[in-house]
Amino acid sequence: MLQIEIISVVPELLESPFRHSILMRAIDKGLVTIQIHDLREYGIGNYRQVDDYQFGGGAGMVMMAEPLNALLEKLTDHQPFDAIIYLTPDGEKWGQSMANAMSMHQRIILICGHYKGIDQRIRDLWVTHEISIGDYVLSGGELAAAVLADSIIRLIPGVLNDAGSALSDSFQDNLLAPPVYTRPADFKGIKVPEVLLSGNFNAIEQWRENEALKRTEARRPDLLKD
Ligand code: ADE
Repeated sequence: MLQIEIISVVPELLESPFRHSILMRAIDKGLVTIQIHDLREYGIGNYRQVDDYQFGGGAGMVMMAEPLNALLEKLTDHQPFDAIIYLTPDGEKWGQSMANAMSMHQRIILICGHYKGIDQRIRDLWVTHEISIGDYVLSGGELAAAVLADSIIRLIPGVLNDAGSALSDSFQDNLLAPPVYTRPADFKGIKVPEVLLSGNFNAIEQWRENEALKRTEARRPDLLKD
């Protein structure tokens, strides 16, 4: 069972993603637990302050070390964890192989940043992985945390009904997925490739591999380089 703890100042942003479809079923089946922690509860003073001006000046607030430290101490007290991940555009770029590795863990903590980010000392003291989901800047780490959680959870054995399904996803073998079709076999005069109707499993596999390779060469030749 994978335990995911998410630290956020806007926990409402994370309510819906885990309440539907595959992720909700994974939770209902007891294959994963997701707990969202409101950092503001650890904020300082009457206003529950969690951010402050940056030393040295400049626009934008910085998330303070103390509230994060207090919550992280609580979450790690007597409970081991495998990874403390900070979502940040200056992190390592997330990909399928990292999702595979994380899906084998027991307990991970995700820290969602806001404003200019979190005080560097929290990164130095606590964070084990700094992750970006792409070269663009989001308003906060919550959507990135949801992306990570989704891509990890669907890889946990038992989450997808068809165990082969995750293995045939794009990127699993460094290839994009081949085209897929469903009924009707003829739509506006465009016919489903004959081989898919043939019932010949080997020929179908061969066709899919070929199409995956063609698509990858055309769209993502960088994937074929390694
Ligand atoms: N927070 C803001 N932008 C982000 C990104 N691209 N990836 C991860 N976390 C982020």
